[in-house]
Amino acid sequence: MKKFYIKTFGCQMNVYDSMRIASMFRAMGFAETDDAKAADAIVLNTCAVREKATNKVFSELGRLRSNKKPDAIFGIVGCVAREAGTDAFRRIPELNFVLGPQTYHKLPEIIANPGVKLLDIELPGLEKFNALDNSAFKIHHSAFAYVPIQEGCNHCCTYCIVPFTRGRELSRPFDDVMRDVHAAADAGAIEICFLGQNVNGYKFSLANLIRETANIESVKRIRFTSSYPTEMSDDLIALFGTEPKLLPFLNMPIQSGSQNVLTRMNRPYSLELYLGIVDKLKNIRQDIQISSDFIVGFPGETDEEFEQSCDVAQKVGYINSFSFKYSPRPHTAAALMPGQIPENIKKQRLKILDGILNENNRAFNESCVGKIFECLVEGPDKTGKHLIARTPYMQQIIIPKTDSALVPVRVTSANKCSLRGEVVKNQS
Ligand code: 5AD
Ligand code: SF4
Repeated sequence: MKKFYIKTFGCQMNVYDSMRIASMFRAMGFAETDDAKAADAIVLNTCAVREKATNKVFSELGRLRSNKKPDAIFGIVGCVAREAGTDAFRRIPELNFVLGPQTYHKLPEIIANPGVKLLDIELPGLEKFNALDNSAFKIHHSAFAYVPIQEGCNHCCTYCIVPFTRGRELSRPFDDVMRDVHAAADAGAIEICFLGQNVNGYKFSLANLIRETANIESVKRIRFTSSYPTEMSDDLIALFGTEPKLLPFLNMPIQSGSQNVLTRMNRPYSLELYLGIVDKLKNIRQDIQISSDFIVGFPGETDEEFEQSCDVAQKVGYINSFSFKYSPRPHTAAALMPGQIPENIKKQRLKILDGILNENNRAFNESCVGKIFECLVEGPDKTGKHLIARTPYMQQIIIPKTDSALVPVRVTSANKCSLRGEVVKNQS
């Protein structure tokens, strides 16, 4: 049997896309391998959001080109494919295909015609969702499924390459999304995570999607990512108080705690508005927690502006959050802005903010000890003796073996990265 190898870089959208690509290969009679050297087809699904991520792809391609089987079909899909285009063929002449985030459904064409080279980095919108075989819908792991509801992004943040790589924002029709939700539930998904670059800007009401999904008996948990602050409608906020299946954890990146930097980032919301949404959510659901992304060293960022990011990280008490050094990207306005910050300052700032975010995690994890959470089992840990599960807040928790996919767990210990717990037998 022929084998395929796929490696995924970047975001959860890419994780979903890779799952669909894997389904396409299985439908063509391939089996998956984690050994690229043994593969008959090699795909890297790539991320271009930071320069480092792009460089990683090309160094991996450089390694693979000399280690792969000589006749293996070899290519890249995703955002680096769209960013690099024909240049990818120039840099790595062995490549057979370069397909963008909206054209990877054309992979079977190249498998059928291995002698040709295929470049397609167009943005035909939602075409890929219709081209993919829905009966092959696979869930991400035992009981968790991503369901994309949108492609692209209309918020032109001045640092972000995504509107170029994934195109303008398009919402999938409501009925198509619900068809995927039902397919996921039928395949055993207990938890559904709606995906979109700007997920709460979904044109046909994310709140209604959540309500309709919550009506499915076998679906027990619902989450969504990633949210844009000004698209948090009152209807959606209220749902955190009324819909028990909607988990009390929201990813709503602020990016910076400085009003001036937000303006330069073209993120036109006031800090008051952002913090007002956080307050509303916390009043509606006391146990809600928020996660964020931060960029440090954005062009022109002063020490004071950076400190405002540190202040907001502490004030909101974000958990499970990420901070990134600003990386100038092609096709973005910020790359041309004056006041680019030297690497050593970015590094120092990253260390300080990471320290705050880690301390938030440690404090929150410790506050969980003794509490009971429903946890979704992901699979065995490295030793095979325990299971890894996820709390409603996406914390990793190590638990003893159990047959159930969703179990009540009492947290017994915590550190800054993960928790340990025991399964609660008779919950009163
Ligand atoms: N430099 C650094 N970080 C970036 N992000 C997006 N573009 C850049 C960039 N040019 C970060 C943002 C976003 C996350 C996915 O990546 O914080 O939320
Ligand atoms: Fe990039 Fe902004 Fe869109 Fe997020 S919302 S993907 S940061 S442009």
